[in-house]
Amino acid sequence: MKNKTKLFIGFILFACVLTLAACGTTDSKTSGAAGETEEKPVLKVGTDAAFAPFEYMEKGEIVGFDVDLLAAVMEEAGYEYELENVGWDPLFASLQAKDLDIGVSGITINDERKQTFDFSVPYFESTHMIVFNEGGNIQSAEDLKEITIGVQNGTTGQTAAEKIVGKNADNMLKYETTAVAFMALANGDVEAVVTDNVVANEYVKNNPDANVESITDKENFDAEYYGFMFPKDSKLKAELDKALTTIIENGTYQDIYQKWFGAEADTEALLEAAAE
Ligand code: ARG
Repeated sequence: MKNKTKLFIGFILFACVLTLAACGTTDSKTSGAAGETEEKPVLKVGTDAAFAPFEYMEKGEIVGFDVDLLAAVMEEAGYEYELENVGWDPLFASLQAKDLDIGVSGITINDERKQTFDFSVPYFESTHMIVFNEGGNIQSAEDLKEITIGVQNGTTGQTAAEKIVGKNADNMLKYETTAVAFMALANGDVEAVVTDNVVANEYVKNNPDANVESITDKENFDAEYYGFMFPKDSKLKAELDKALTTIIENGTYQDIYQKWFGAEADTEALLEAAAE
């Protein structure tokens, strides 16, 4: 009887050791494999592709400066991603709901948005411009008070215009995309469009028959910066900031900038702005 009990206990102990060993092995195998081949998630990126030259549709594809920059950043950070043209308002809603990981869409970094979202380091400096039909006799932003203006709803172009004409002013029409705001200008529905300077200049350049011109107003329109936008407290921010800074420093950013703007980027100024 005694011997049997001993044997039994011995057996139990042996079984325990085996189980522990087995568990131990399995455990370390799992973590080992995860450590080596660590599967990074495929990131979901959203944009509003009606904002040339930053993002727009060409032959069914999303192209633009932002699109190339995103590709370079993702390659540097070692992520696969899917870029989807979700539209401007849904972009903010989907990021807030964490249905998207990143928004890349010429999005201006500002304090209001920072309350709900996180931003990468800045990657582009912008300001606003007024586009209007030639002969429109518009000299400064103050003249916006006298005419009908079109903006893309929920953009800083809207905020910039509202600073002059007042919030939700009657003479301001809000459109779902910047491209549609330009159409409204061409149709005569509005007399001017307020939008980001590079987008304004691109429209004037690409539409010589539209007979439009553009002006800026340094006194009324501030400088602002674009950044990648993340849901609040996203772990991606640190990783992508590093990747973005690397490609700004190593010349990749400069190449993309040259390709799209045919000029040299002031990367020093960008890095300084990032450090602020
Ligand atoms: N920079 C402006 C903003 O953040 C306009 C951006 C619009 N971008 C776009 N893809 N439609 O409000």
